[in-house]
Amino acid sequence: MSQVVFPKKTLHDIDVVGKTVLLRVDYNVPMTADGQIDDDFRIEASLATINYLLEQQSKVVICSHLGRPSGERDEKFSLKPVAKKLAQALGREVKFVRDCVGPEVRAASSGLVEGEILLLENLRFYAGEEDNERDFAERLAKDSAADFFVQDGFGVVHRKAASTDAIVEFLPSAAGFLVEREWTALKQATDDPGRPLVAVLGGAKISDKIELVSHFIEICDGIIIGGAMANTFLKHLGFDIGDSLFEDGEGETVQKIIDQAQNKFGEEYLAKFILPSDVAISESGDLKAKRREVVLSRDKQLSRATKILDIGEQTIGYATALIGSSRTVIWNGPLGLTEEPAWANGSAKVAEALANDQGIVSVIGGGDTASFIRNWDVQKVDSFSHISTGGGASLELLSGLNLPGVDSLMDR
Ligand code: 3PG
Repeated sequence: MSQVVFPKKTLHDIDVVGKTVLLRVDYNVPMTADGQIDDDFRIEASLATINYLLEQQSKVVICSHLGRPSGERDEKFSLKPVAKKLAQALGREVKFVRDCVGPEVRAASSGLVEGEILLLENLRFYAGEEDNERDFAERLAKDSAADFFVQDGFGVVHRKAASTDAIVEFLPSAAGFLVEREWTALKQATDDPGRPLVAVLGGAKISDKIELVSHFIEICDGIIIGGAMANTFLKHLGFDIGDSLFEDGEGETVQKIIDQAQNKFGEEYLAKFILPSDVAISESGDLKAKRREVVLSRDKQLSRATKILDIGEQTIGYATALIGSSRTVIWNGPLGLTEEPAWANGSAKVAEALANDQGIVSVIGGGDTASFIRNWDVQKVDSFSHISTGGGASLELLSGLNLPGVDSLMDR
């Protein structure tokens, strides 16, 4: 196992002392119906870079997107509440301007003094952002009066947008600490991991993750599949899954995955490609109903209303044994309906197995899994090696794809 090296310039390679830095972050945070920030993980994750820039007496102009306003100004996607939250997290003033390009931005940016922070309004209020328009990127670079562009929005680097791609034509660019840390952790786990390497895969859809599953079979020494994704496999293999969530029309894809796994693991297929052998069900389909566990067999009929909502104890036993024999575990997608405590048992037991074994490098990717882990046991969050802030970005990097927002930055 050798150390993966981040291939791009980072903040440490550029002299930002007293300079104006246009900092791209991903403040696409979940909001409540009444406009409050529901989860500040991405804000917290941006602080290391911002604090470093402040130590360097930089003038920091921060830009981000929030939601998908599709090029139209829409107040429900305003970043104003984020400015307040960021100010609280930093313990200092964060100025806010209600635009991301134009005269107000020019005035506010050029009025910054060293060590001051300005947050711009949502980049996606302009179609030029998602369309990766050169002109929009040029305005962003000029109006922010920036000397450098720093990319630290790991969650968005899989998008080819003006603030992840075209912008680098107009400003010398480097990665922030979050992008460097995320890229290195995820790349290390897939490209040169401590072995055995095991992937734990869950969530709802196979079609969203087909590249990931296939790539993992290629590189991993074991795979554990749970969540609604497992239902699609079970249904294809002829098990009755009642009224459980599964993805229709994916039979061919599922068969290809099974063939690939059988070819790779050979005689060890059943031990190394773990699908649920027992499941936790709600017989009425009601999410609040009592948890009951059943061992699966092809002749077992479930009632029409039954929903499979978690993996059962037997499967948990097989999964945690495989995890216990591994040196690296990548986990993407919860193994049950973790929003309800009754159905979070499988995910919690896997989390426990990882947190209790500090000999295992554990990499958690994907929004739902990261959010489960952070809410599961606050005392144990630091026991995981890496919890990614990226949804699609972590999925694509783990799938072996390149990230346009990293590729665009200046080489080391
Ligand atoms: C995310 O939350 O995955 C990123 O912020 C990207 O958002 P998008 O899927 O709307 O491009």
